[in-house]
Amino acid sequence: MKLNKESRVTVVVGGARGIGYAAARLLADEGAKIVLVDLDEARVQQSAHTLATETGIEAIGLRADITSMEDVQAMTDKVVARFGRIDALINSAAVLDDKLFLDSRPADWQRMINVCLYGPMNCLHVILPLMTKQGYGRVVCMASDSARLGQARLSYYAAAKAAVTALVKSIAQEVGANGVTLNIVSPGATNTELRQEREESMRKQMGEEKYARRVQAVLKMYPMRRVGEPDDVGAMVAFLASERAAWMTGQIVSVNGGFAMP
Ligand SMILES: NC(=O)c1ccc[n+]([C@@H]2O[C@H](COP(=O)([O-])OP(=O)(O)OC[C@H]3O[C@@H](n4cnc5c(N)ncnc54)[C@H](O)[C@@H]3O)[C@@H](O)[C@H]2O)c1
Repeated sequence: MKLNKESRVTVVVGGARGIGYAAARLLADEGAKIVLVDLDEARVQQSAHTLATETGIEAIGLRADITSMEDVQAMTDKVVARFGRIDALINSAAVLDDKLFLDSRPADWQRMINVCLYGPMNCLHVILPLMTKQGYGRVVCMASDSARLGQARLSYYAAAKAAVTALVKSIAQEVGANGVTLNIVSPGATNTELRQEREESMRKQMGEEKYARRVQAVLKMYPMRRVGEPDDVGAMVAFLASERAAWMTGQIVSVNGGFAMP
């Protein structure tokens, strides 16, 4: 299935690695021009280089901190100067903070809300006007099943993701008539560096035996008996960011191996 009729310009925020990069790779295979945006300058340059070399498409890497409106504006100006338009925006940047709520501090909540809520808001506020003006746009924001189900030790992450979901649904109602769609992808546990870093710190805290029991308990919660790979989730993100997803907007799509069936 060809996803895009013509070469489209896709900005992937948090695209240096993980699910964002997987989605970028799938869209690049379809001929899209890709802008990877990330806080990690070295990694984003390296990932853009790999993408361009392996697929032959035009890909660039830009450093931006999406918690800064100035950074988001400067990044957008550079993309427009280079490509003239932005057809799709994928918001994949996030941080995790594995803590009981009562052990957390307001500074922890602030950091989470800044990255996982204000980050997407900054990007949407700057990029959506380009899309509504050109009469075409696709936005995909990453949430998490924790936003719908709650998750111990990830309370303010889950809260930020729930807020993004409400934001996306609301804006989808405002810009649909301009040909712009916004959707949410809600993954279950996915084997990215973000998850691997959290698992490694749990393994150290719990010790080998208890951690091995945890791994088995987690797998039991997944009818497909495995966690996801970045491509499993990236495929849905790429579809929703493409022209093919023409009549889907304001939706939350879980890609989770059956972990939750809400
Ligand atoms: N991996 C999972 O199990 C899982 C589960 C549910 C939801 N998600 C969500 O999916 C999305 C992708 O997750 P992933 O596992 O691929 O994450 P990841 O950590 O592998 O990738 C996220 C990227 O975002 C970047 N980033 C962080 N803060 C930034 C900022 N302020 N400005 C710009 N870039 C920033 C990081 O440098 C990183 O490269 C996230 O929104 C995450 O919350 C992931």
